[in-house]
Amino acid sequence: NNRFCHFKLVLLGDTAVGKSCLVVRFVRDEFFEFQEPTIGAAFLTQTLALDDATVKFEIWDTAGQERYRSLAPMYYRGAAAAVVVYDITNPDSFAGAKSWVKELQRRGDQNVVIAMAGNKADLEAHRKVDFNEANEYAEANGIIHMETSAKNANNVKALFSEIAKRLPNN
Ligand code: GTP
Ligand code: MG
Repeated sequence: NNRFCHFKLVLLGDTAVGKSCLVVRFVRDEFFEFQEPTIGAAFLTQTLALDDATVKFEIWDTAGQERYRSLAPMYYRGAAAAVVVYDITNPDSFAGAKSWVKELQRRGDQNVVIAMAGNKADLEAHRKVDFNEANEYAEANGIIHMETSAKNANNVKALFSEIAKRLPNN
């Protein structure tokens, strides 16, 4: 079976949590220590082959800096999936992620697949967000939760695969 589908996916979350790095890792398998803050938003695509389908993600990587916050609805509107990113070393970014989840539940598409990514999992020694607390929050809200590292690539492809599996017809 060779079904092909394409989905709009948006990344949301505070500045510097690693949204752009996650996308660059997923799309180009690269990582930059000095990734520039995103201006407005960036658009990239990546295709993922699953067992029974090929999924093309049309990815909007939004800018997390406060001055861009009002642009976000333009990018999550019509999105089939949203990755809400926080940094496991930064509790404020976890609070920010929870408020993005709430906003998506209120104003996003009815069936939007939401995934929370606790990024920078390579910085275990500096962890300030408890894995179980985030997991319980995700479970209570019926959303995916994974810890990722754009730096060492851990769980990056797995995160997008998990999302693809939950999208309609997958
Ligand atoms: P905005 O575009 O401003 O919203 O920021 P962003 O969320 O896109 O963050 P960005 O990808 O630019 O990464 C910010 C910083 O975190 C960069 O210096 C990255 O090198 C670093 N970084 C991103 N992901 C990781 C990771 O998994 N581990 C570590 N150690 N550093 C990371
Ligand atoms: Mg960025």
